Amino acid sequence: MEPHTTPGTAPKVRARAVTRTFGHGTRQVHALGPLDLDVQHGEFCCIVGPSGCGKSTFLRIVAGLVRPSGGEVELRAGRRHPAAMIPQDYGIYDWKTVLANVRFGLDVQRVPRRAADARARDWLHRLGLADFADAYPATLSGGMRQRVAIARALAVEPEVLLLDEPFAALDAQLRTILQDELLAVCQATRTTALFVTHSLEEAIVLGDRVVVMSARPGRVIAERRPPFDRPRTGAMRRAPRFAALRSELWELLRDEVQRAGAGAAAPADPVSDPVSDPVGKPS
Ligand SMILES: Nc1ncnc2c1ncn2[C@@H]1O[C@H](COP(=O)(O)OP(=O)(O)O)[C@@H](O)[C@H]1O
Ligand SMILES: [Mg+2]
Repeated sequence: MEPHTTPGTAPKVRARAVTRTFGHGTRQVHALGPLDLDVQHGEFCCIVGPSGCGKSTFLRIVAGLVRPSGGEVELRAGRRHPAAMIPQDYGIYDWKTVLANVRFGLDVQRVPRRAADARARDWLHRLGLADFADAYPATLSGGMRQRVAIARALAVEPEVLLLDEPFAALDAQLRTILQDELLAVCQATRTTALFVTHSLEEAIVLGDRVVVMSARPGRVIAERRPPFDRPRTGAMRRAPRFAALRSELWELLRDEVQRAGAGAAAPADPVSDPVSDPVGKPS
């Protein structure tokens, strides 16, 4: 099928020779790059790579939270529809109510209070959190907190959504449900997504494209386009092509994971063990 993109328009994210080094002297760590990547308008791009290869660093650079040591990153998102990031730890505020958390980005944009409340409530409703608007995050389950983080990011109607292993801490069922919800929203709103995951399965289920990073300093070593139509359903997980792509990606990654020395042992047969996460623990 056609990838979910608009050809002929400038990429939403454009990274060229991006590097990042932390520390000085003998303690210097080359965390990233040089890395080149374009993400097209409306594309759902997944990044997989071994633990510690610089995935989070790259996402933070794209978000403008960390400066690259070298190279350039362009993020094309407007003032009215900025980029939104869902960080690895969700980044929700425990001292704010669920509603105030979801309204946060709108407050920053100075959207008038009533309009902001209405938009925030609409997203809470869509993510099944309508009854929890006045609750505090500490009283919610992990899955609900994750939904708050998603609602908060989507409430600003971002042109570009940056997600750092957002479902890593969730159980398999909930993860599947939220994957489906996220895909549906991104497709309906034509949101461009850059999604970091340590799960090959998740990358194949979600991605128009799966980008594979090397061990640190992370560079792009391969990319693949999962050959599945949209909307995708759980049935694709049982397709032979799914298993084939999964083992192909794992072959590409195996050496890198070993090089990363992350202690992530390869499953004996990653194909027959669909819930294992061969790239290691989230980090
Ligand atoms: N603020 C920081 N200061 C020092 N080192 C860092 C910092 N952030 C990340 N690193 C190092 O950079 C490397 C890449 O980290 P990270 O981007 O978190 O990897 P990933 O998300 O792929 O697991 C790691 O070696 C990590 O320890
Ligand atoms: Mg990380």
